[in-house]
Amino acid sequence: MLTSLSPVQTKEWSTVDPLADCRRELHKKAFAAIHPLAGHPLFTIDALAKVAEHASRRPGDLYVDAGDLSFADKWGTTPKPNMTIPEIIDRIETAGAWLVLKHVETDAAYRVLLDEFKAFLLEIAGPEGAKILRNAEMIVLITSPRRKSAFHFDAEVNFLAQVQGSKDIWVCDPADRSMTTEEEIENYYSVSNSAGTFKPGAEKAARHFTLRPGDALHIPTYGAHWVQNHDSVSISVSLNMEFPQHYGDIYRANYHLRRLGLKPRPPGNSELVDRSKAAAISGMRRVRALIRR
Ligand SMILES: [Fe+2]
Repeated sequence: MLTSLSPVQTKEWSTVDPLADCRRELHKKAFAAIHPLAGHPLFTIDALAKVAEHASRRPGDLYVDAGDLSFADKWGTTPKPNMTIPEIIDRIETAGAWLVLKHVETDAAYRVLLDEFKAFLLEIAGPEGAKILRNAEMIVLITSPRRKSAFHFDAEVNFLAQVQGSKDIWVCDPADRSMTTEEEIENYYSVSNSAGTFKPGAEKAARHFTLRPGDALHIPTYGAHWVQNHDSVSISVSLNMEFPQHYGDIYRANYHLRRLGLKPRPPGNSELVDRSKAAAISGMRRVRALIRR
């Protein structure tokens, strides 16, 4: 299915569809939004070069790779470039690079913009939904022309905001267990967040969106997705909030049960079983914390 999102300049975050529809679809289905970050002086390449420099001083807050890849490559397996971060940003037109700047909100000026997004997201979530969301984060993605991002899924409640350049993104239904399997979600929580694997037929199963400056897209939790950048440098902002840690515990328990040769029931089939699994993992976590003291 092709869904084209028209470019819109706006002063604040807003949904395209009625709020009630978005509240029902939040973290379950992809939907469009519009955002105020396109053209903002904090998201020029020069401003972001400083952000990258700051992020490089915080362990784990700057990721970079460069080279050709296919959508089927494993997330995070592309080679590291043999250049410094300023060199990569300087040569971003030709470097074939993908830079990920995490926790950009560490800088107070960006924190203000993240807080505006957070207020928007919590309004969509509604009073009940807002109670469970936490740890808002702003991530900036700087991408060379024609660069791809491989098939993967995430566990957060995420919006991708296009600031500069344009790109195609394909998003699968998170409930489609032929695209995101139970085992992959279990592995995501227990082994590696690159657990998603590209499947034959993924492009037919996915919804296709084109993002231009001013467009934002809600990417549903566990919804597999992959990205093709267009012919110019792309600057995108990924904004997300997390579910509580115990939301992943049923999958963590199922990971251990599967390793014992069992076929665990997916979450949602029995409240009692789910609660017991979550309690077992929580107990293991408490024991580990005690041992570390
Ligand atoms: Fe993602």
